[in-house]
Amino acid sequence: MAMPSALSFLLLFSAVAVGVIAQPLPPPRHDGFVYTDHRVDPDTVVVEAFLDPVCPDSRDAWPPLKQALQYYGPRVWLVVHLLPLPYHDNAFVASRALHIVNALNTSATFQLLEMFFKQQETFYNDQTKNMSRAAIVKSVVIFASQVVGNSHYSSIASGFNDRQTDLKTRVSFKYSTSKGVSATPSFFLNGFLLPNAGSPIDYNKWRSFIDPLIAAQGQRK
Ligand SMILES: *[C@@H]1O[C@H](CO)[C@@H](O)[C@H](O)[C@H]1NC(C)=O
Ligand SMILES: *[C@@H]1O[C@H](CO)[C@@H](O)[C@H](O)[C@H]1NC(C)=O
Repeated sequence: MAMPSALSFLLLFSAVAVGVIAQPLPPPRHDGFVYTDHRVDPDTVVVEAFLDPVCPDSRDAWPPLKQALQYYGPRVWLVVHLLPLPYHDNAFVASRALHIVNALNTSATFQLLEMFFKQQETFYNDQTKNMSRAAIVKSVVIFASQVVGNSHYSSIASGFNDRQTDLKTRVSFKYSTSKGVSATPSFFLNGFLLPNAGSPIDYNKWRSFIDPLIAAQGQRK
């Protein structure tokens, strides 16, 4: 019996050692920023949105989604996952800023996301192609501090030197790809992918997706 237990100790030890160096998955907290803070019960319709803060289609998808959430109130719950697309040069930096700000002040997360949507062009590939990576990070730090409050400037700047915030952003990327998502925006409704991934969904379309679900719940009762 001595051998197996020594062996399992070794295996456990190496698993722990590897876990420290490599990406610890699953993460200790589920990925995603929860938009609405109300209670979730079995009848709550769950929307998962996969967005890239510097993607124009994600930007265009946001207002009608917000409008739908406002309409449904506590019957619909939204969690936003970030998918920084590799061909958007500054998507990872922008997504990392969102994780940094989320850790500093959760309620500022969506304000920053909306500000990225509003002033997205600043961080497009063409507009930043002459900038060094350090200059881009600095400009994102300034941008984010303007949203969260300039007193947070140094916390946001040091967030970019904290490996944990890099890992959290990687978890977002890995979560998205593990769901087979490769385009933004993509939406899951009660766990199922909605058609036309990569295109915004307008308000009427949201109503046409969600109204029947809520009607069906009514029949069940
Ligand atoms: C967090 O952000 C919210 C929304 O921007 C703001 O009202 C609040 O004062 C902030 N809290 C702190 C501690 O900075
Ligand atoms: C980048 O640099 C090139 C060469 O100096 C210049 O022609 C171009 O306008 C610059 N682009 C931006 C967005 O600043």
